Amino acid sequence: MSLDPGIVARLHAERPAVTEDLLLCARDVAGRNPYGWLAEVLPPAGRVLDLGCGTAPLAEEVGLHRYVGVDRAAAELAEARRRRPGVDVRLGEAGDPPPVGTVASVAVSMALMLIGLEPVLAVGARLLPPGAVVAATVPTRDTDLVAGTTYGSLLGLLGQAGRGYPDPLDADGLARRAAAGGFRLVEDQLGSFTRHIRDGQDAAFVVDSCYAEPPPPARDAALRLVRGAGRLDYPIRRLVFARPG
Ligand SMILES: C[S@@+](CC[C@H](N)C(=O)[O-])C[C@H]1O[C@@H](n2cnc3c(N)ncnc32)[C@H](O)[C@@H]1O
Repeated sequence: MSLDPGIVARLHAERPAVTEDLLLCARDVAGRNPYGWLAEVLPPAGRVLDLGCGTAPLAEEVGLHRYVGVDRAAAELAEARRRRPGVDVRLGEAGDPPPVGTVASVAVSMALMLIGLEPVLAVGARLLPPGAVVAATVPTRDTDLVAGTTYGSLLGLLGQAGRGYPDPLDADGLARRAAAGGFRLVEDQLGSFTRHIRDGQDAAFVVDSCYAEPPPPARDAALRLVRGAGRLDYPIRRLVFARPG
């Protein structure tokens, strides 16, 4: 069973910046946040097209002057422009983006599992030069991976256990899907990013960011869990696909 697309659209319309506010302060053991981790595998020069850009936090990592973002949620883009005056973000579908000019790489921060791999690789194949990369970070709800963790318990309380993303990007078959799209899978790495919980209000923010609309008793139990744990460790994958040179 997959996430309810209506809940995904509602969250990004009603609570723009939810992903940035969740993850900008999360850190891995090397002190990186997920945006810095993604930027590490992007080329140091040339424009970056960010699909499903949200509030464009990746623009801080690559520099506003070499960044263009596309998202289908107008509220996310309005908040991107408010937080980052001058940022180039456009309203549109990731699989059929508006004209963006020449780009040297495609990034997809925490959105590939919603957009789907094939549409993104098709955009990359159309816009990127040989040797260029499509790079993505994706959350994972892999049941084996989250079993026994606070994050796994949280998903269980919210009725999300076993409820995957529209494109779960299963490791099995990923290289084959990349090749079918004209790319080579060059990296599939797992990271862990710790998000500390400051207070009750912060716990509520974290619980309400999970693409779930639980009944009040389940939400209350989730709040108690998160507040008590004081932190959540988010498993996040980094995927890199290269266009053959
Ligand atoms: C989890 S958020 C990530 C936002 C941002 N990239 C970040 O990392 O903070 C996913 C974003 O993808 C956007 N999105 C999902 N499917 C899309 C599609 N088919 N076309 C364009 N945007 C899409 C949503 O509107 C949302 O802003």
